[in-house]
Amino acid sequence: MKILTIETTCDETAAAVVTDRLDVLGSVVASQDELHRRFGGVVPEIASRAHLERILPVIDETLKRAELSLSDLDAVAVANTPGLAGSLLVGLSAAKALCLACGLPLIAINHLQAHIYACRLAAGEDVFPCVGLIVSGGHSSLYRCEGPIEFDLLGATIDDAAGEAFDKVAAMLRLPYPGGPAIQQAAERGDRRALNFPRALLKDKERLDFSFSGLKTAVRYQIAGPGCPSIDNVHLTDQEVADLAASFQEAVVDCLAGKAVLALQKTGLKTLCAGGGVAANARLRDRLTEESQRHGFRLHIAPLKLCTDNAVMGAIAVERFHAGLFEELDLDVYPGLVRKT
Ligand code: KG4
Ligand code: ZN
Repeated sequence: MKILTIETTCDETAAAVVTDRLDVLGSVVASQDELHRRFGGVVPEIASRAHLERILPVIDETLKRAELSLSDLDAVAVANTPGLAGSLLVGLSAAKALCLACGLPLIAINHLQAHIYACRLAAGEDVFPCVGLIVSGGHSSLYRCEGPIEFDLLGATIDDAAGEAFDKVAAMLRLPYPGGPAIQQAAERGDRRALNFPRALLKDKERLDFSFSGLKTAVRYQIAGPGCPSIDNVHLTDQEVADLAASFQEAVVDCLAGKAVLALQKTGLKTLCAGGGVAANARLRDRLTEESQRHGFRLHIAPLKLCTDNAVMGAIAVERFHAGLFEELDLDVYPGLVRKT
């Protein structure tokens, strides 16, 4: 059985062909980073227009790499939640058109479940039940994951997502977009104890939520105090940038690792799976590994190339195929956070 999976939730146009044995026959990711770079973040209208230009060539190239034609497929799967409305619509419309033209069943993918499924793919064995930590440009959330498609929200960011904070702080430090990899690189030369930034909600053992907006403001005020309306003319030395990056990254990692451990303690679950673009962060990966050794839980972090958005993780569609969960062609997009599935 072969499923074409389509991913257009944010700013990557991606497609893959996966089998029921979870083999990947072909995969293509067309990044839009260069289009959004000068804005320091994803511009939704630019993203959806770029998806429109790229979606058919990306699907063609994926089938070519898999050495398959449309008639070899058994289903088409597409991420329809959560994400940017305009971006989601492009992938969903392409998937529906293919289903209609080829008489194939349509499968809906929850993008956050797919990020955690990347851990299942890499592990080569069942990873459920687990606590799922999803940290990306759009989301920072903890889920109780009873199975690959049974998620229950435990906590989430109440303002910025972790990746969004990385991107915005990188812009303040005049580091390139996307900010996550740039901050990680700058942080390698910095002292993570140089500045004591706030760790919002970390001491609150009742809540599993995150907040990164105050941290972002603290970085801004460190660069130039609250009385200073602009940071455009502030010169930072390379060492100051490195120390700011390392101290900021440490504060984010403390919050993510701290709440993930708290979620394991509160739920009694023994496995943590982490996915999403920020899960590519080397410091976070090290910290989660240390915490797993200290607290004795099983840890699966998505492999680097499956952390940022891709369509391979859409292999979660195989689970829905087996469960007989197919969609009508009037399926809609759901941009907002999903609490329970
Ligand atoms: O999962 P993803 O590709 O897209 C969303 O679903 O949002 O995540 C993109 C985010 C960006 O904010 C980017 O800065 C961040 O992931 N990111 C990182 C790293 N690599 C990507 N953040 C921290 N460290 C990294 N190494
Ligand atoms: Zn994502």
